[in-house]
Amino acid sequence: MAGTQEEVYRASTYAPVNIAVIKYWGKKNVELNTPTNSSLSVTLSQDDLRTHTTALCSVETAKDSLTLNGKDQDISGARTQACFRELRALRKELESKDASLPKLADMKLKIVSENNFPTAAGLASSAAGFAALVRAIANLYQLPSSPADLSRIARQGSGSACRSLFGGYSAWEQGSQADGSDSAAYEVAPASHWPEMRAAILVASAEKKDVSSTAGMQLTVATSPLFQERIKNVVPKRMKAMEKAVHDRDFESFAALTMKDSNNFHACCMDTFPPIFYMNSTSHAAIRLCDAINAAADKTVCAYTFDAGPNAVVYYLAENETQVAGAIKAVLGDKTGWEDKRGQSIKAAGTPLPNT
Ligand code: ADP
Ligand code: DP6
Ligand code: CO
Repeated sequence: MAGTQEEVYRASTYAPVNIAVIKYWGKKNVELNTPTNSSLSVTLSQDDLRTHTTALCSVETAKDSLTLNGKDQDISGARTQACFRELRALRKELESKDASLPKLADMKLKIVSENNFPTAAGLASSAAGFAALVRAIANLYQLPSSPADLSRIARQGSGSACRSLFGGYSAWEQGSQADGSDSAAYEVAPASHWPEMRAAILVASAEKKDVSSTAGMQLTVATSPLFQERIKNVVPKRMKAMEKAVHDRDFESFAALTMKDSNNFHACCMDTFPPIFYMNSTSHAAIRLCDAINAAADKTVCAYTFDAGPNAVVYYLAENETQVAGAIKAVLGDKTGWEDKRGQSIKAAGTPLPNT
């Protein structure tokens, strides 16, 4: 049955942001969007930072389209197209087995998305964005796909998105298959394993970055000798140590690895030619502030990390809320957030918000 003229099919979903503690930076295969190294992240609560995406289709829909926060986006890029193609192929398969299903795979898709936090500012909008896009379409198509299947598809939209299909602590295994079929995320531990984890976000700038993650990492791969050291000798050991720190709920180790990996990633950006500066003087002040908080506590109670942007994410445990979030608020006042999210603590993601 082809859809009737008036029928509009739709599905919506939320997806969370994830902030890596062992960073993905570098593509092994640009077409497949596979990485030069595995990575590990904490997914943040969707109550605070989230993308909401609706996917619609009908026989009347004239062309594929995507609007983000009300603005039309260019969807001609190979990565968005790969997500559409893979999801349509899975829907086709269902339709070929059951002739009573409406022929959604032949209809054009209209995607409407909203981020409730700054886009392209180093707060993982591409992660939440592509995780939401893929899951919204999968819901629309009523695909029986697992989070791991959707993760492999979302990876092709934006690498970091593959980790946002999971809550809690997740890792992206770089994979070894030439076709990228084993390059996807898996759950290292659910949020309930270590529910005391908190993140404070210090917004140094909500402006769009001048070098996108995609462009930045390709320049680093092409020009940085330090990066070769990172992927060969630094990250593999850190991945193992970080998985262990999460399993053992060992905050001291988690924090040391997190800060060192952020520093190493930004050193590689600096070693890129011409150099890329994602951090600014406010970012440097945030690092000094975390150092001072840890020194005053006489142990490691907080860990900073910076994605490809100037904004700090500071991880700490709930028991140290006053020491960490309190100190951040006291020093930075209302400069720590955007709109209503000023320096507040954000939980590691627990129960996903329902599809709506
Ligand atoms: P960020 O640090 O925010 O992840 P990136 O440079 O990795 O920045 O990616 C930003 C790009 O991700 C945006 O310019 C846009 O193309 C895409 N993106 C962000 N949010 C969404 C969304 N909700 N839906 C689809 N694409 C999105
Ligand atoms: C620094 O996933 O945004 O945030 O795959 O090109 O879309 P593309 O890149 P993206 O890169 C994220 C880089 C990072 C580290 C991380 O999230 O692991
Ligand atoms: Co991104």
